[in-house]
Amino acid sequence: MNTTIADATSINYAATLLKQGRLVAFPTETVYGLGADASNPEAVQRIFTAKGRPSSHPLIVHIASPSQLADWASVIPDSAILLSQSFWPGPLALILKKQAWVPLEVTGGQDTVALRMPNHPVALNLLRTFNGGIAAPSANRFCRISPTQAEHVREELADRVDLILDGGACQIGLESTIVDLSGDHPRLLRPGQIGEQAIANALGITSLSNPLCSPEIRAPGMMALHYAPITRTILCSAVQLLTEIDRLITENKRIGILTYSLQYQSNPHVHVIKLTDSAEAYGQALYASLRKLDSLKLDQILVEQPPNNSSWWAVNDRLTKAAGFNHFD
Ligand code: TXA
Ligand code: MG
Repeated sequence: MNTTIADATSINYAATLLKQGRLVAFPTETVYGLGADASNPEAVQRIFTAKGRPSSHPLIVHIASPSQLADWASVIPDSAILLSQSFWPGPLALILKKQAWVPLEVTGGQDTVALRMPNHPVALNLLRTFNGGIAAPSANRFCRISPTQAEHVREELADRVDLILDGGACQIGLESTIVDLSGDHPRLLRPGQIGEQAIANALGITSLSNPLCSPEIRAPGMMALHYAPITRTILCSAVQLLTEIDRLITENKRIGILTYSLQYQSNPHVHVIKLTDSAEAYGQALYASLRKLDSLKLDQILVEQPPNNSSWWAVNDRLTKAAGFNHFD
C-alpha cells in the first residue's frame, strides 16, 4: 500500500523520495499532482512514463514562494509580480521565459517554464521540506479525468507512483488558470477558478489575448477530448436530456445523468448525480462525479449543459473537453 495520510513524518519521507528522483503524488487545492524533482531530468522523465504522456507536453513547476520565481524564470515582468502578489498561493500558473539551466524535459523543449505556488498546506509543507521546485502534472493517465482524491490517484497510477500523500478531497477540483506572460501581451491558456476579468483587473488592462485565436496547441488542456471519461459523454440542455433519456430507455441502454436542475429519480436504467447550481461547488464535485459515472460502465453519460456565463467558464471548458466533439444535435 503506497497511500499514506499526509502528516509530518510522511511529508519528510516524501521529500526524501523526491530527492532520490522518485515520484510522489500530493494534494493541491486544485487537483492531485504527480510530483518529481524538477531539477532532475531522469526523475521528470518518470512522470511522462507513468502518465503515458508525450514528452513534448510541458509540466508546471510548483514553488514554495514568489521569491523563488527568479530561480526558474530569466525574465520577471511586472505582470508576474502583480499576479503572484494578487493570487499566490493559489490556482494560477504563470508561463515565463525559463532560466537556461531549467531542464528541457520539464518545459517540453520550450524556452518557457510554467510556475505555480499552490495553496494547500500539504503541498506547501512538502515544497518547503523538499526545498526545491516540484514538477507536477495532474496525477492521472494522459487525457483522463484529473484526480481530486487520493483514491483516484491510486485508481489511475497504482504502483507507477512511489508514494501517494492523502490530504483529503481537493477544495477547488479544477486545474489552475494558466496565463502566458512570456510574450508581448498576457495570454490566457487555460480557464480556471480565477477568472479572466480578475486577472485583467489585477494587471490594470481590459482583457487578455484569446488563446483560441492561436492555431498552435501549447497546452494539452487546450486539446478537444481531454479530461475525458471512457464512456461516451454528451452535453445537452435539460429538455434534450429528458427526451434522450426516454429514447435511450426504449433502446434498453443504461445511462448516467449529471444534472444541476432536474429532479430525476435513479432507477435500474438511469443513474442520476445531481450537483448544485453553484459553479464553485459544481466544479469541486465535477471530476469525482464523472469518475463515478464512468466506473458504472454505462452505455452513455448525459450531462446537462450549465449556464453560459463567466462564473461557469472553467466548468464549461472541462465539460466540453470531457464530451470531445460529442454534442447533442
Ligand atoms: O492545477 C494545476 O495546475 C495542476 C496541479 C497539480 O498544480 N496541475 C496541472 O498540470 O494541471 P497539467 O500538466 O495537467 O497541466 C499543465 C498545463 C498543461 O496543459 C501544459 O501544457 C501547460 O500547463 N504548460 C506547462 N508549461 C507550459 C509552457 N511552458 N507553455 C505553455 N503551456 C505550458
Ligand atoms: Mg492534466
